[in-house]
Amino acid sequence: MTLYPTLAPRTLDGNAEQELRLLDFKYAQPPALLPLYRRLRQHGLLYDERSRSWLCAHMSGLLSILSDGRFVSGRPAGSGTPPPTPGNVRGTHPAPGSTLRDRKASIARLLGRQLLVNDGTVHTRLQGIMNPVLRQMGHDMRASIEQRVEALLDAIESAGRWEVVQDLALPLVLGSMVQLLLGVKDLALDSLQQFNAWSQALASVTSGFFSLESMQYVLAMQETFHVLLAHKREAPSSDLLSVLVADPRWQDDDELVANAMMLLAAGSVTTTKALIQSLWLLLQDAHAWAHLRTELLACTDARAQVQLLKPLVEWLLCRVTPTRYVVRWATQDSTIEGKRIQAGQQVYLFLEGANDALVRQETPFDDAAPAAAHEQCPLLPGKPAPHVTFGSSRSPHYCPGAPLARLLLLHALQAVLLRFPSLQLAPVPVHPWGKNANLGALVALPVIHIPERGAYASSSTDQSIAS
Ligand code: HEM
Repeated sequence: MTLYPTLAPRTLDGNAEQELRLLDFKYAQPPALLPLYRRLRQHGLLYDERSRSWLCAHMSGLLSILSDGRFVSGRPAGSGTPPPTPGNVRGTHPAPGSTLRDRKASIARLLGRQLLVNDGTVHTRLQGIMNPVLRQMGHDMRASIEQRVEALLDAIESAGRWEVVQDLALPLVLGSMVQLLLGVKDLALDSLQQFNAWSQALASVTSGFFSLESMQYVLAMQETFHVLLAHKREAPSSDLLSVLVADPRWQDDDELVANAMMLLAAGSVTTTKALIQSLWLLLQDAHAWAHLRTELLACTDARAQVQLLKPLVEWLLCRVTPTRYVVRWATQDSTIEGKRIQAGQQVYLFLEGANDALVRQETPFDDAAPAAAHEQCPLLPGKPAPHVTFGSSRSPHYCPGAPLARLLLLHALQAVLLRFPSLQLAPVPVHPWGKNANLGALVALPVIHIPERGAYASSSTDQSIAS
C-alpha cells in the first residue's frame, strides 16, 4: 500500500531529469518561474512528495479547488499551528515573551486570527464586519487618490531621473492605505518607511517566511496597533479603524488588531507590487508607451480615458499577479481531475501560473501555444479573460480590496502616461527582487525622462474621473 499518490512522470529539463518541487517554485527568481509553471501545467495537479503538497498552476484545477467547500484556508487543527484562541479583554494583551519560540508562537496566534486563514462562521462574521465598510470607504478614496498622484508627480516631474518604488508606488499606495485606515493624510517619510517595513514583515510571516527581523517588526506593529486602537476608542474619527473599533461583533481586541494589521499589509504590499511591475512591463516597449499615450490623448474626456485604461489595468494585473499563490487544505478525501487528494493534505494554487496560461492563450494542458500571444496590444477592444489575480469570485476569500487596488492602479497609470511622454527604464546592472517568494517585487526601479515643455495634457486630468 502506498502512503502517497503516485508521482507524476519525471520530466526532461535540458539534459537533466528533474522533478518539479515546491521549493523550486518558492525559491526561483521571478523570470525563471514561468517555464516552471508551464511544465507544471502539463501535469495538471501534481503531488510533491518532499513537501507533501499538491501543486496546481492550471485554471480548471485552481477554480475547482477554490470553489470547493471541502478545501479550507485555515490549517486543520493538530497540524502544527495553534488554533485561534479567544484573546484578551479590551485594552489588555499579554507580552509576547522573550524567547524566540515564545515570539514565534505569539505571531502564529496573531496570524491565526486573520480573516484570510479562517473559515466557516468565524470567516463570515469577520467578512460581515470588514467588507462592507472597506468597500464603501475604498470607493470614497477616489478624489484623494487623484490628488495624491498629482502631488507626487508634481514633485518629480522636473527631475530627469526618479525612482518608481520610493517616489511613486510606496507613497501613493501605502500613503492611501494609512489614510484609509488611520485617517492620517500626510505621513512623514520615516513613518511611511516604518509602516512599509512592518507590512513587508507581516506579509512575509503570513507566507511562512520567518526571520528574526520580520518577527521583531511584526511584534512592534502589533504593539503599535494596540496603542492606536486605544486612541481611536478615546477619540474616534471617520477613519476605517475608528469605524471598526465601534463594531461590537469583534471577539476581542487581538482579533481586531490582527485584522487591521492584515488590511494594511495585504492592501499595500500587493498594490505597490502591481504598480511597480506594471510600469516595468509597459516601459520595456517604448512603442507601446507612445501608442498608449496617443490613444489616451485622443480621448474626449477623463471618463473616456478611464474606460480605455480599464482593460489595460486588467491585462497588467493578469500579467503581474502580485500574490503568486494561495494555499488550501483538504478537509476530506476527494478526487479532483482524477487525482486523489487526501484529508489533511495541502494544495498550492499558483495564481500566477494560471494567469500565465491566460496570457499565452493556452488551451488546458497545451504547452504549444504561440509564445507571442502575450505581445498582443493591451488596448485591443474586447472583454479581457477573467484572471485570478484577486482569487476566484466563487471562493469565500475573494479579495475585498480589488476595487481599491484597481482605482490606485488606474489613476497612477493614467497620470504617469499623460505626464511623461518619453519615460524610460534607467539602465541598471541587475534588477533586485524582494525576498518574499509569494509577494516579492522589484525593490528599486529607476526611470529617466527628458522634461518637455507643454507635454503634460493637463486638460485631460483636470476633470474628476468617474469609472
Ligand atoms: C493588486 C492588489 C491586490 C491583490 C493582487 C490581492 C490579492 C488577494 C488574493 C489573491 C486574496 C485571496 C486569498 C485567498 O483566496 O486565500 C486576497 C484576499 C484579501 N485581500 Fe487582497 N489583494 C490586493 C489588494 C488588496 C487591498 C487594497 C486590500 C485592502 C484594502 C486587500 C485586502 C484583502 C483582504 C482583507 C483579504 C482576505 C479576504 C478573505 O479572506 O475573505 N487586498 N487578496
